[in-house]
Amino acid sequence: MVERARVGVLISGRGSNMAALIEAGKAAACPFEIVLVVSNVVDAPGLALAEVAGVPIYAHDHRGMEREAFDHLIDAALAEAGAEWVALAGYMRLLSPAFVARWAGRLVNIHPSLLPKYKGLDTHARALVAEDKVAGCSVHLVTDELDDGPVIARGEVPVLPGDTPDDLAVRVLEEEHRLYPRALAELVTR
Ligand code: GRF
Repeated sequence: MVERARVGVLISGRGSNMAALIEAGKAAACPFEIVLVVSNVVDAPGLALAEVAGVPIYAHDHRGMEREAFDHLIDAALAEAGAEWVALAGYMRLLSPAFVARWAGRLVNIHPSLLPKYKGLDTHARALVAEDKVAGCSVHLVTDELDDGPVIARGEVPVLPGDTPDDLAVRVLEEEHRLYPRALAELVTR
């Protein structure tokens, strides 16, 4: 059997991108598998989805801990699970430089804009204010700068007349679920 890349996913919330990665990873032909889901929010809804899918979880509240000490805990859990790659999927916490350095080149994120446009939050509202005709999402390698690492892949969707930020968020999220598994598969087989 061909060895598949072992991926740990970090979440803080609903985990729909995590679910898309888990689902993709179940296909025998997929070059990666999700071996652990980690959350800094112990009641993140995504954790329940991971459990239903049969993926091990590690949840630990970050509050009251130094960032580096917390990231060290996560790192230990990932190592224990034999993870070789880390995919951020709605992980709402900055990572320490030590963690980013340790996983450099094997740490990816999905962001709901066509980077380098609209780093940070409120991406859909900003795309609408700018009257963009096309919006989308990007998968990128993570560096110490927020939403700034090299882009691996982008997915585009149209902005339609009358769109609210929520309308656009729904359309972009569907594209995220298509793009992330594809981009990760490409990355681990490069
Ligand atoms: C997604 O829009 C993703 O691009 C951003 O955070 C959101 C996470 O959503 N980084 P989900 O938890 O994957 O549903």
